[in-house]
Amino acid sequence: MTKRIIIDTDPGIDDSLAILLALASPEITLEGLSVVHGNSSTAQGTINALSVLELAKAGHVPVTQGCELPLVQPSLLAVETHGVQGIGYAKLPAPQLKPQIQKGSDFLIEKIMSAPGQITLVGIGPLTNLALAIRQEPRIVQNVKEVFIMGGAMRHEGNTTPLAEFNTFVDPHAAHIVFHSGMPITLTPLDVTYQCIFLKEDLNRLLKINSPITKFIADAARFYMEFHDEYQKIDGCVINDPLTLALTFMPGICDYQDLFVDVDISTGVGLGNTFADFYNYGKKTPNMKVALGVRPRVFMELFLERMEKLARSIP
Ligand code: BDR
Ligand code: CA
Repeated sequence: MTKRIIIDTDPGIDDSLAILLALASPEITLEGLSVVHGNSSTAQGTINALSVLELAKAGHVPVTQGCELPLVQPSLLAVETHGVQGIGYAKLPAPQLKPQIQKGSDFLIEKIMSAPGQITLVGIGPLTNLALAIRQEPRIVQNVKEVFIMGGAMRHEGNTTPLAEFNTFVDPHAAHIVFHSGMPITLTPLDVTYQCIFLKEDLNRLLKINSPITKFIADAARFYMEFHDEYQKIDGCVINDPLTLALTFMPGICDYQDLFVDVDISTGVGLGNTFADFYNYGKKTPNMKVALGVRPRVFMELFLERMEKLARSIP
């Protein structure tokens, strides 16, 4: 039986790669996308989501538009990291597909409540849509099968402030609601994603296949690599979101610890910082499973094989 997956996403270069990985993975049935602000505006992210689905000949996957703004904070988009359109140097034709009329949070609620215990949610953007859905229909907490979240930095430095990771910094209040909701969460923080670098050699391997998929990956990744080189002196680029997606069907890529994790919503320098109570000072029951160890090349081999397979199927 395949896993029934919904991705809540802010496409986004690595978000787009996560969507492609989901489509290329037989372990998964991708039942829809809900788009959120983050790397791009929700409107632009929706166009990107539809274009990527069209590129991969997956127009059957419904796309819904979610929230345009964080719950409390002003909007923060990631133009330097993902480009003005959110997909680096890639240029995709305007999509023929249209988003659904339903709002993103309503879509999450409907899908989860109509299939209790069956839907796996993958949150790879700021958690605004999911937080809203929890407030609208708290019963989704008991009815979702599991939630995989890309976010946070436990012992790793932040990638948006010295302390905070992008998704938790952009909407820390939403992350707070989700972390404290009681949902069965697996968190993929920067501690593991920053060990998974997509290298130029990896890109060259994919480029041996002539396909619109490999061209898209190359044009998007080239921008992302330039960002990583300029801002973080990293050779290659960190593909956070595909790693998170991969854990839904290949959990053995990572090692985990059950921990109580909170997020800073005070307005000081720590805003959006995620912190785990490693020594259990607070005597609280763990609220999530946190990926803290990773086998990077196992993940990268999986990612490359799946992208090769997808590319060969779309010449
Ligand atoms: C996260 O922030 C975004 O820029 C990426 O898409 C990823 O979801 C990494 O901090
Ligand atoms: Ca993302």
